[in-house]
Amino acid sequence: MADGPAVVVVLGGINMDLIGTAPRLPAPGETVRGERFYTAPGGKGANQAVAAARLGARVRMVGRVGDDVFGPGLLHGLRGYGIDVSGVAVDPERASGIAIILLDAQKQNHIVAIYGANMGCDGDQLRAVESALDGADSLLLQHEVPIEISAAAARAAKKRGVRVIWDPAPAADIPPAAYSDLDIITPNQTEAEYLTGVSVGDVDSAREAAEVLLEMGAAVAVVKLGGMGVYFASDGASGHVTSYKVNVVDTIAAGDGFGGALAVALAEGRGLEDAVRYGSAAGARWP
Ligand code: RIB
Repeated sequence: MADGPAVVVVLGGINMDLIGTAPRLPAPGETVRGERFYTAPGGKGANQAVAAARLGARVRMVGRVGDDVFGPGLLHGLRGYGIDVSGVAVDPERASGIAIILLDAQKQNHIVAIYGANMGCDGDQLRAVESALDGADSLLLQHEVPIEISAAAARAAKKRGVRVIWDPAPAADIPPAAYSDLDIITPNQTEAEYLTGVSVGDVDSAREAAEVLLEMGAAVAVVKLGGMGVYFASDGASGHVTSYKVNVVDTIAAGDGFGGALAVALAEGRGLEDAVRYGSAAGARWP
């Protein structure tokens, strides 16, 4: 059990989300009349950071924003949650990351992200992570900054005994050598299928995909199944946690809320199954 609050380092995407609601997605060439438009700070890394901070963790964010209209607001928003943004650089050339998000009548989200400054993360951000790891419990990583920087950060954390939680979102290849640095990998169905080749549609196929991820070198695989819950597997324990039934108002970033909460729960000394349940509750309640 940690003595004080959990200390969580996040290297990842910081985006401004441009969100529109519509009854359905347009077909090619079609215009559909939408209902509402709003902006909200997002990015998978920033969302995880906010989730952990809301649950009482001390959070250190590392990444990049642009020197543009969105950059200051994104930093201000993170600071508002008490998140240390001294590891976030302002990129003089690239625009801030943005995500164009359509929410349909079923509250499903459809996202196109343009990562801009996030993809400028380089050795400077790796060094910022290395300093931030001092005294940290967990490092949270996703796929919205260059993967080789995330893999190097995972290596650095592993060497220092800091838990590495890797959310492979959006789906992309992970360097094979990086798997052995991953304490926990947390794909959703699409990502699990991308990484393992197993078509994930239910708990049995999630188990199969999780076993492949363990064979690839991850110590723990946690497969998020949306309304079907979460399947988790490690050498020592495996199981299925059912989802919390909530009135769905918005599915954007529920998986990010899960990741931030999972990190806090494990840092607080909860066992894997309990931490997965805690993460599920946070994901269901997000935003
Ligand atoms: O996971 C949700 C996030 O994905 C959004 O906040 C958006 O910025 C995209 O990165």
